[in-house]
Amino acid sequence: MRPMEIKKDFYWVGVVDWNLRDFHGYVTEKGTTYNAYLLKAGKTVLFDTVKAEFTSQLVDNIKELISPDKIDYIVVNHAEMDHTGALPEIINLVKPEKLICTKACRDALIAHFHREDWPFEIVKEGDVLDIGGKTIQSFGSAMIHWPDSMVSYIKEDKILVCNDIFGQHWATSERFDDEVEQGELYHQAAKYYANIFLPMSPAVRKFLEKLNKQSLQLEMLAGDHGVIWRRDVAGILKAYNSWASGETKPKAVIIYDTMWESTARMAAAVARGLAGDGISVKVFDLRFNNASDIMTDVLDARAVLLGSSLLNSGLLPRMAAMVAYMSGLRPANKIGAAFGSYGWSDMNVKLLKEAMEGMKFTIVDDGVSAQYVPTEEVLKRCVAMGEKIRKAILER
Ligand code: FEO
Repeated sequence: MRPMEIKKDFYWVGVVDWNLRDFHGYVTEKGTTYNAYLLKAGKTVLFDTVKAEFTSQLVDNIKELISPDKIDYIVVNHAEMDHTGALPEIINLVKPEKLICTKACRDALIAHFHREDWPFEIVKEGDVLDIGGKTIQSFGSAMIHWPDSMVSYIKEDKILVCNDIFGQHWATSERFDDEVEQGELYHQAAKYYANIFLPMSPAVRKFLEKLNKQSLQLEMLAGDHGVIWRRDVAGILKAYNSWASGETKPKAVIIYDTMWESTARMAAAVARGLAGDGISVKVFDLRFNNASDIMTDVLDARAVLLGSSLLNSGLLPRMAAMVAYMSGLRPANKIGAAFGSYGWSDMNVKLLKEAMEGMKFTIVDDGVSAQYVPTEEVLKRCVAMGEKIRKAILER
């Protein structure tokens, strides 16, 4: 894609990665973008770079606007390699006067690239850099996404160059939130939050409070993934406040894996018990659904029910992987319950409950297990468990 002026003298120079399908296990079925920005003022500043394999596209975009050696400063908001892979080559080309970043980012960059000789300029919370006609204020955003992360506020333009936060892994030719389909936009933003920022929710809350206290005027949130927020800045801030606070909806997510369809039959019975009273129910068979999509629904669900058969004294491998992934993402404020069938060792429900206790779920039922194939009586207990969870959802 070609560079685009998104506000006077402020340009998008990033790249679109149409083919990315996996981001550390996060299924990115619609690709992503690595956004980088160029600001022309008294000094010319490049904000962030791109993944290494796209370096030449970034260079082409910069060259369309300016000779790279005319760039004075490079701001590195975050050290992760989707934004710094191109940095060594860009530094060679630009020979910047300053490489502006946090101290933690400098340390991380040195640990990545082993170049102590780069012209690091460390910025602290609230530091203001006058670049001649424009000022850039730096705000730490530790753990959004890494300890080194920061955001850069261009005061005169009211633009927050915000790196990972408010992003979406979504490859589009459109650059702004008002140019894309809104349902898909918020779906991708929620998926991104659920699969990346969920465990950082305390840091996100702190960051949002900081933005509020600073009373920054925000006309654009120019992040490094997906589209730039300009029409609905308030909307995405509201969504982040809700997700970071662990707000939930009257919604239940059932996730299961099954060997001989017994646990599947139990899942259907649990869903039957849950349905009604305006409760939204989603059922995910792990044979046909991936963890990233499931987590998007877990994000705002009030109840999560896990079902698995027992295999070799453990959970079925797909459920074990799901539990490991979900545990790492630490969803908050969930009601939980477990079910599943076993052969000769009644361990599966116990293992699932232990996993949910580890995630601090509120377990409101002892769970239902069935030996081999559920009887009508067992299926009735599954329905009753669903009804009990429905009641707990409505009461919360
Ligand atoms: Fe998009 Fe934490 O990198």
